[in-house]
Amino acid sequence: MHHFITGVAGFIGSHLADNLLAEGHHVSGMDDFSLGQHEFLGVARASGNFHLVDGDCSSLDNVRDALSVVSAWGGVPDMIWHMAANSDIAAGSMDASIDFNRTLLTTFAVIEAARAAGVQGMAFASSSAVYGERDDLLTEDTGPLLPISNYGAAKLAGEGLVSAAAESFLKNAWIFRFPNVVGPRPTHGVIFNFCRRLAQDPSRLDVLGDGKQEKAYLHVSELISALRFICSRANAKRNVFNIGPQGGGTRVSFIAENTVAAMAPKAHIAYGSADRGWIGDVPRFHYSAEKLAQLGWRPTLSSDAAVLRAITEIAAAVRP
Ligand SMILES: NC(=O)c1ccc[n+]([C@@H]2O[C@H](COP(=O)([O-])OP(=O)(O)OC[C@H]3O[C@@H](n4cnc5c(N)ncnc54)[C@H](O)[C@@H]3O)[C@@H](O)[C@H]2O)c1
Repeated sequence: MHHFITGVAGFIGSHLADNLLAEGHHVSGMDDFSLGQHEFLGVARASGNFHLVDGDCSSLDNVRDALSVVSAWGGVPDMIWHMAANSDIAAGSMDASIDFNRTLLTTFAVIEAARAAGVQGMAFASSSAVYGERDDLLTEDTGPLLPISNYGAAKLAGEGLVSAAAESFLKNAWIFRFPNVVGPRPTHGVIFNFCRRLAQDPSRLDVLGDGKQEKAYLHVSELISALRFICSRANAKRNVFNIGPQGGGTRVSFIAENTVAAMAPKAHIAYGSADRGWIGDVPRFHYSAEKLAQLGWRPTLSSDAAVLRAITEIAAAVRP
């Protein structure tokens, strides 16, 4: 099969490309390298089955052109994985145009270009952020969905566009609500931030918020396994899945203490006083991955174990 991945040079996109290529698929992708890194594509390039288009996919013309180039190379893609988006929630809360352009417009352009090219399958990287701030267990049926960040709002709007596309031309649409994903090749995220700051100043770690924020973390290797599993088993017109670890989440204080232990054991951890890190941050959520478990997939790592593994991996890459 031919898979086209937007945001292919990013954290999750590059791991997905490697996984698909390892199974013998043709993979093409598009990235504007705003956060993606050429070095993340080393394995993909070496495969001989990979084609990259460098470009901004918030422009419909650009995505149309990219799809025509990659279709000439490997046939019309059987499936598009739309991963390109703004991944900085805090930045998007200060400037709404970031999520409008990078998250919503890219989704619009990718869907319309897919329609013109005759693509039949689309997987959309959505997020737990669509749920907003709620105390109840978050299942795929939870509603109303009232996000508290522009990031979450743009993802929710994107879900709507993908759902409508499923009515008009897609054979299958998969909407994946990711938790916090961690692992090698990070471009952002709490562990990467802590490691970089400790590499610069091994004496102190300032933490945004009081450290009591608690979220679900999943290792990127398990995320990719779940994505592939769901696409092979769930074949409805619209397939909506939370993807997350079993059991509870992980506190920011746990991440701070273990990152300090790995990077700079003498560092003083200075917590803030707010209950959240930034405007739009959801400090605590209880994520249900039961629908996915019923389908037959469970992660092997708890949220804490995924975090510990990622700290080891990221600290090794960042350590001076
Ligand atoms: N990492 C997480 O914890 C997490 C959680 C929930 C959802 N997601 C979603 O998963 C997807 C992948 O996230 P990630 O962590 O790999 O982020 P990332 O920032 O590493 O990857 C996104 C990629 O998209 C590219 N990109 C951004 N805007 C673009 C544009 N206009 N045109 C072309 N390329 C563009 C970036 O350069 C980057 O390579 C995103 O849609 C993100 O919102 C991630």
